[in-house]
Amino acid sequence: MLQAALDAGWNIPHYCYHPGLSVVASCRLCLMEMKMPHPQTRELGWAPKLFPACQTPVRNGMEVRFDSDAVREARRHLMEYYLLNHPLDCPVCDKAGECSLQDYSETFGLSSSRMVEDKHKNPKKDIGSKTLLYSDRCVLCTRCIRFCDEIAGAGELRKVNRGSRNEIDVFPGVPLENDLQGNVVDLCPVGALIDKSFLFKQRVWVMKTAKSISPADSSGAAIWIDHNRQGVHRVRPRYNPKVNDWWISDEARFGWKYINSDKRLNTPRVRRDGVLAPIGWELLPGLLRDRFASTEDGGTAAVLSPMMSCEEAWLMAKFIRSAAPRAALVLGYVPVNGQDKTFPKGFTIRAEKCPNRRGVEQIIEHFGGAALSFDEFTKAAGAGKFKAAYVVGAYPDDWIDEAAAAAFSKIEFLAVHDLFPTPLDQYAAVQIPSASFAERCGSFVNCDGLLQPFERAIEPLQGVKADGQFFLELTGESGLIRADKIRAAAATEFELFTKVYTPPDEPKYAH
Ligand code: SF4
Ligand code: FES
Repeated sequence: MLQAALDAGWNIPHYCYHPGLSVVASCRLCLMEMKMPHPQTRELGWAPKLFPACQTPVRNGMEVRFDSDAVREARRHLMEYYLLNHPLDCPVCDKAGECSLQDYSETFGLSSSRMVEDKHKNPKKDIGSKTLLYSDRCVLCTRCIRFCDEIAGAGELRKVNRGSRNEIDVFPGVPLENDLQGNVVDLCPVGALIDKSFLFKQRVWVMKTAKSISPADSSGAAIWIDHNRQGVHRVRPRYNPKVNDWWISDEARFGWKYINSDKRLNTPRVRRDGVLAPIGWELLPGLLRDRFASTEDGGTAAVLSPMMSCEEAWLMAKFIRSAAPRAALVLGYVPVNGQDKTFPKGFTIRAEKCPNRRGVEQIIEHFGGAALSFDEFTKAAGAGKFKAAYVVGAYPDDWIDEAAAAAFSKIEFLAVHDLFPTPLDQYAAVQIPSASFAERCGSFVNCDGLLQPFERAIEPLQGVKADGQFFLELTGESGLIRADKIRAAAATEFELFTKVYTPPDEPKYAH
């Protein structure tokens, strides 16, 4: 009944209810009046007690109301109770601006407290490598406990003590360390669970948010990127019932920080007199086209990274096919780490640590088939079979070592397009800086074949051009890259681009 009322647009306060967790009906904020049959006459009338809406299934013909004096009075008492010991530290609380206690207090509570005793203050606790618990702010909704039990399956959190000393805690010597722990911070309806890396960093009302897809693995988890002119500050899960429901892995949540690294490449360079020297972006398209066209007979190749979006891969393949029609198109290195890890309710962290192997593979096939695997290409390059190659990396981690890079020394003209310096650079004739996923737009095809679009959140690092923008210029087009326009144009030639999946709106509930 609570979900039906929320979906209908009614503002019903609730803490313990979350559509992705079991129902416990413990906070009592969603109480409602309901008509029940009189025990003797069987006539329907308003029952003398209130019912938790979150625990009441909707049935044909039932009558309930949330706007009665009895319900309003119950909410006022509950809000007063929730604030008895709650500190008034909204000015320094990370949750301020997106806190259900603030909102409900204003809408349903009393404007002053009748509490004259000193507030009981529960302690702050360091409960895990990434999470702090401010127990004095906790409303004991148990969402965090249920998440650790039901979704993560690790069960690290529990309630201890009783009465006003009742609080959330970890078992002695067993900190909160599961791979999904960051989700408890999103689940907490007040500012009790705090992400250490976000603590005191930004006020939520000075950030904008962009719809994106996590590049951390091949699952295609939907995310929000919270950002402003100072950069990216936070990554949160975005509801997607086909992929990640309400959750993301810590890898997806915290793995974006490389985008602020001062080691990133930020200037295009060409080799002159043995050293890589800066060159203007505007000179690169002509240079690359000439070199690839002139070495076509001597073996040319383009290595398309599984970190690329479908639109970037499409534009790059178009460029290569136009400059060197017989060039080999090669799927780049696919990073894999261990095995897929599946949690009790089915949430899975994928072992494949790139977002778009399937999309890039299909595009390569569309443009004439994958002539070689990346290993075969490396061997062939080491045997001197290629005179010109364009290699896109764009990996957040080291992906090629000195020994593997040595095979590229035989390529006369090597263009390397990457986020960070690698051992390949010593053989590069041209080095092109990549933009991070937050600085690009496009779409990825996930491990289940869903093509999902993502938006650009922030401007590329100074000196860097978004990869898609550069590939657009390579194809001879002008104007700014718009991924949706590229998709629409590509869809007329290739059906991959016709099946874009965007998740439905999230069921309404208190975040
Ligand atoms: S810490 Fe937050 S999520 Fe956990 S019980 Fe307290 S209020 Fe609820
Ligand atoms: S009792 Fe219904 S939301 Fe908590």
